[in-house]
Amino acid sequence: MLSLRFGDPSDVEAQSGELGFWLAPEWWGRGVMTAAVKVFVHDVLPLANARRALPVVRVASTVYAPNKASRRVLEKSGFEFEGRMRSAYRKNGVLVDGDLLAWVAPS
Ligand SMILES: CC(C)(COP(=O)(O)OP(=O)(O)OC[C@H]1O[C@@H](n2cnc3c(N)ncnc32)[C@H](O)[C@@H]1OP(=O)(O)O)[C@@H](O)C(=O)NCCC(=O)NCCS
Repeated sequence: MLSLRFGDPSDVEAQSGELGFWLAPEWWGRGVMTAAVKVFVHDVLPLANARRALPVVRVASTVYAPNKASRRVLEKSGFEFEGRMRSAYRKNGVLVDGDLLAWVAPS
């Protein structure tokens, strides 16, 4: 599953989006999610932008810091690390840091 949220066109986040993803375990490690995120950035986003008054120029994604595979998926798709969100999540009763990565359209 790959979820996208585009900012409200009338809001300050009009040109920003958020990306989240999850893949069934039997498909892990085959390059599936990297391929999906690349298709989103290079093919889906331009199609969506063609129908918007203001193009989305930034897509952010946050991952659990210990989840190196998720971070790698984003890095391989052109997202860059922007910062560590300390104790951002409570997962299985334990506080976990989050990593914020973002893709920004070339200017
Ligand atoms: C994380 C997830 C999306 C990865 O999807 P995937 O299709 O298996 O990922 P890919 O095969 O495209 O690539 C994974 C990359 O991470 C790397 N990787 C995998 N496990 C790793 C680990 N434990 N440590 C470091 N890197 C790891 C792979 O080597 C690969 O990088 P490489 O090509 O440079 O070698 C998938 O495992 C998943 O859905 N996990 C559970 C839900 C989740 O964590 N969602 C994200 C919420 S933040």
